[in-house]
Amino acid sequence: MRERRFAAGASPPETPRGGASSGIGPETRRREYALLAFVNGTTSKTNGNVPGPEGEAATPNPMNPLASPEPWSLVAEGYQETTRLFLESYSLSGLEMVSYDVDTEVVDVACGPGTTTLLLAPQVKRIACVDFAEGMLAQLNRNLTEAGITNVECHHADGQHLPFDDGSFDLGVSMFGLMFFKDRRRGFRELHRVLRPGGQVLVSSWAPLALSPAMQVLFRALAAADPSRPEPQADITSLENPEVFERELRDAGFSEVKVEAVEHFLEVQSADEFWQELVRGAAPMALLRQKLGEPEWARQEAIALDYLRKELAEVPTRLGSMAYLAVGRR
Ligand SMILES: C[S@@+](CC[C@H](N)C(=O)[O-])C[C@H]1O[C@@H](n2cnc3c(N)ncnc32)[C@H](O)[C@@H]1O
Repeated sequence: MRERRFAAGASPPETPRGGASSGIGPETRRREYALLAFVNGTTSKTNGNVPGPEGEAATPNPMNPLASPEPWSLVAEGYQETTRLFLESYSLSGLEMVSYDVDTEVVDVACGPGTTTLLLAPQVKRIACVDFAEGMLAQLNRNLTEAGITNVECHHADGQHLPFDDGSFDLGVSMFGLMFFKDRRRGFRELHRVLRPGGQVLVSSWAPLALSPAMQVLFRALAAADPSRPEPQADITSLENPEVFERELRDAGFSEVKVEAVEHFLEVQSADEFWQELVRGAAPMALLRQKLGEPEWARQEAIALDYLRKELAEVPTRLGSMAYLAVGRR
């Protein structure tokens, strides 16, 4: 695994270009995040949470299309084959930040196809997986069967209303999931509620676009395809702001909160592969395609691909993507 860590909020060294290795399905979440700007027709890449007055809960925003299960089910198969493999590196980095053993009971909120759960299940007592997208749970069930994992339960539920009693788990995880909730603060509070005193939490989100060369390349390609697209703006009210991340965890009742910036690299073998994997595995791309309709999509795709083939002329290359990984204790 290639990894670089920084204190959250600190400036990272310049991201290297060139070189080779393995892997696919880039900084998918980051772009999923930012693509909301296009999908919503706004200039902000907000995850949909509108901040309340100082110290109060964020206001739910029903306009965020990624806060509903349909787009996730739509891309579940592609996500399983591309994005999951790339996001595994962030799960591994996050799991290094918490402790667990064979007696640990875990809840994985917004588990997707089991990116974190598949890595963790053999090392803990049990994992309760929660996701609101049936397509994702179908991929998870397939993965569990293939891996012969029997200590994982799947729950079709919303992470903002966890179907568990208070104090049921020792470790709560939400990798690139809670950041999409309509009411993010409620998601944090629910994680806190279902943990036992002393239990640990691990949550991740993408860092700003400026720290994600992989996302930047995609955005430049999409802007080439439609120059009228607004440039994505930083959203300092979202979890891409490490101060907000830390404060929301503390507000939910967590202590010993730490937010760390971790970068992994997408290995790009060709411009076409880069594009196709994003199209197959990223919910915002699926939404964009739906919104444009097939003829317009085909037109824009041809321009975007043309742009990428020039920009990524020297392949293989590697594009970094920074995430914030946060831990805390109940
Ligand atoms: C980017 S994927 C992350 C999946 C997985 N945790 C990973 O690291 O690959 C986001 C997941 O969050 C789920 N999700 C988003 N909002 C949710 C909610 N309110 N309740 C439950 N699941 C949710 C989606 O269905 C999707 O599976």
